[in-house]
Amino acid sequence: MKLKVGITYNLKKDFSQQENQPIDFLEEFDAEETIDAIRRVLEGEGHDVIKLGGDAGLIDRLRRTPVDIVFNIAEGLHGRNREAHIPALLEFLNIPYTGSDPLTLSLTLDKAMAKRIVMSQNIPTPRFKKVEKVEDLHGLDLRYPLFVKLCHEGSSKGVRLDSKISDAQSLREKTTGLLETYDSPVLVEEFIKGPEFTVGILGNEDPFVLGVMQIEIKGRAPEESVYSLEIKREWEEKVRYHCPPSIGQDLLRKIEEVALRSYRALECRDVSRVDIRVGEDRTPYFLEINPLPGLSPVYGDLVMIARSMGWDYDRLVKTIFHYALKRYGWTE
Ligand SMILES: Nc1ncnc2c1ncn2[C@@H]1O[C@H](COP(=O)(O)OP(=O)(O)OP(=O)(O)O)[C@@H](O)[C@H]1O
Ligand SMILES: [Mg+2]
Repeated sequence: MKLKVGITYNLKKDFSQQENQPIDFLEEFDAEETIDAIRRVLEGEGHDVIKLGGDAGLIDRLRRTPVDIVFNIAEGLHGRNREAHIPALLEFLNIPYTGSDPLTLSLTLDKAMAKRIVMSQNIPTPRFKKVEKVEDLHGLDLRYPLFVKLCHEGSSKGVRLDSKISDAQSLREKTTGLLETYDSPVLVEEFIKGPEFTVGILGNEDPFVLGVMQIEIKGRAPEESVYSLEIKREWEEKVRYHCPPSIGQDLLRKIEEVALRSYRALECRDVSRVDIRVGEDRTPYFLEINPLPGLSPVYGDLVMIARSMGWDYDRLVKTIFHYALKRYGWTE
């Protein structure tokens, strides 16, 4: 079946970094090469593909150029519902699209809300407090060391090597800095000291784990490791990825189970990547889930997982698209 497919996205190059903005202001947005890589795969399948972008002009473009389906990777522009804006518009216009729906995208972008849902299913996740103003730290009932991050951000925005916190004064300073710099509440969590994993999941009624990848920060013990902005930007020198990881089958199964249960609890569709850290008690803890995982053919974590499992980039993109088509009853 030949389809007219639109791609929605936000590009780093469409914005310019202002002096008063934090250095990671544009971190979530994509590179044009990623959009072109997705386009090439879909064209290779015989579809007509058009790049629709993701600014307000999209509304007119969709009216002028009707499409059968949208391959959505747009991160959105503002607010905690930003990832949901385009899928909500597409639903309003009755246009099918890949990936999760607005409810899931909003819920998962707010890390505290996502944690409340997974907790309701008894999935382990670090104890936490959502902090809107620095006074909310009073009477904090959490055990040090703590970890401080932004509630509505991804791509390690706001996460630095000093995000692990050992005393009340640093907690106050770090929280104040984040609240002043970013447009998001802060999430204060108990720090999980063991190794870190990210899990790729695909599918709908019967989702499956594509692969589990361990993220080892070179030269650092797990309790001193944070997959921070500094590390992600220099991943080639600073990170060793293990997929599949060299861990016992028992722990591997437990990690997969936490990831799959989280995917189901948040009603993700087609694809997601779940971040997990293992505690001293060998329990895998849910950190967060990414229903719009980066698809950079070079450094996307999900793409690396796929490659390690013997899947090339084309197969990954085709499979995500296939699951969307199947949901709409357009293919077996
Ligand atoms: N409670 C915690 N304990 C220990 N480390 C943590 C904790 N929360 C986050 N981290 C570390 O910080 C990193 C970034 O946190 P998290 O994955 O929640 O944020 P993110 O910026 O949304 O990530 P992504 O780039 O996957 O979108 C994690 O990969 C992990 O190394
Ligand atoms: Mg993460």
